[in-house]
Amino acid sequence: MTVVLDSHETLYEPRRKPVVPDMPPKMAPDTNQGTHPLEPLLKVEDLTVTFGRGETALTALNGIDLQVAPGELLGVVGESGAGKSLLSAALMGLLPREGRIASGKVTLAGDRIDTLGDAEMQKIRGRRIGMIFQDPMTSLNPLLTIGDQITETLVSTLNLTSSQARKRMLELLDEIGITEPQIREKSYPHEFSGGMRQRVVIALALAGEPELVLADEPTTALDVSLQKQIIGLIANLCKTRSAGVILITHDMGVVAQNADRVAVMYAGRVVEVGPTAQLMTNPMHPYTRGLIQSIPPLDYRPNRLTQIPGAMPRLRHIPSGCAFHPRCPQAVDACRQVTPAMERRGDRQARCLLYADDPIKAGGVA
Ligand SMILES: Nc1ncnc2c1ncn2[C@@H]1O[C@H](COP(=O)(O)OP(=O)(O)O)[C@@H](O)[C@H]1O
Ligand code: SF4
Ligand SMILES: [Mg+2]
Repeated sequence: MTVVLDSHETLYEPRRKPVVPDMPPKMAPDTNQGTHPLEPLLKVEDLTVTFGRGETALTALNGIDLQVAPGELLGVVGESGAGKSLLSAALMGLLPREGRIASGKVTLAGDRIDTLGDAEMQKIRGRRIGMIFQDPMTSLNPLLTIGDQITETLVSTLNLTSSQARKRMLELLDEIGITEPQIREKSYPHEFSGGMRQRVVIALALAGEPELVLADEPTTALDVSLQKQIIGLIANLCKTRSAGVILITHDMGVVAQNADRVAVMYAGRVVEVGPTAQLMTNPMHPYTRGLIQSIPPLDYRPNRLTQIPGAMPRLRHIPSGCAFHPRCPQAVDACRQVTPAMERRGDRQARCLLYADDPIKAGGVA
């Protein structure tokens, strides 16, 4: 995958329909226990998030294990309701009031952050973790000029003087592809187009020079060509800063073009994770295969896209065994009872009984 970027344009390889085999790939047994090739910046271990307490508690995130290396872009993909936004909220310490981290551990560059209180997390947000959300208007102050917002953020996150901050703000505007920064800094958010506003949000997220950037559906509101430019910009700016990125999207095409590695989420679990090219051309999990088959191809327009039948279950009705079994074309009887464990094959992992040597031992009976 090649991403070439100048200040305005991103060039992409044409998106072709991947060749997706019907049967799970034959893979060599695990040799290196799925270790990450680079020292992780972010390490999420067995993270579980619940809503409510006691017997009626609902498990919204279940045993999430993820790692992101410096400069790496991890795509997190899954249909609506998979748990992607809750994952990002849990990492930032912004879970809804009824939600809590019931177990697990999150470390950022070796520092444990899941146990920090609100005031301490507030210092991490913006400074060590930058955030980019879907709707720029919720991140921008309509009453402040673009220049003042970025300058204020620079002063508060990096303790710069106002003249140092202003100089840095103009550099940042230039880096995000805003021409004539000295004129445009005086504009208010409503004077910018949607794409330009999202560029400003990127500048704000990067202003504190964070080690990790979380981007939750950052371009869903934009048209397709703008989406490509904006995601290319995020990828490029974070790579040059060696910042890790978690790019959350429901669009498998977006991760295919931009992510170094992909984590696929279903019903609150990570069901497959691996390097993008391998995962896209040779998916292990039937859900991943279904998502890939529903990417609209560029080279022809079918009357109907292949869709995965059925829908993401609600938290209250997560099926027993493998939660995907009611929708899975390869489900066998054991899938209804046995919760698949993560099976590792080199640097790839999938939660599917098709890869278990002994399906009954592979997981717990739900
Ligand atoms: N505040 C909440 N209370 C109860 N359930 C919630 C709350 N927020 C999200 N959920 C549920 O958690 C699941 C995951 O939601 P979310 O992370 O927003 O999904 P995604 O971002 O992948 O679309 C969904 O079933 C959703 O209904
Ligand atoms: S465990 Fe069974 S139902 Fe789940 S994805 Fe694998 S084959 Fe399908
Ligand atoms: Mg979401």
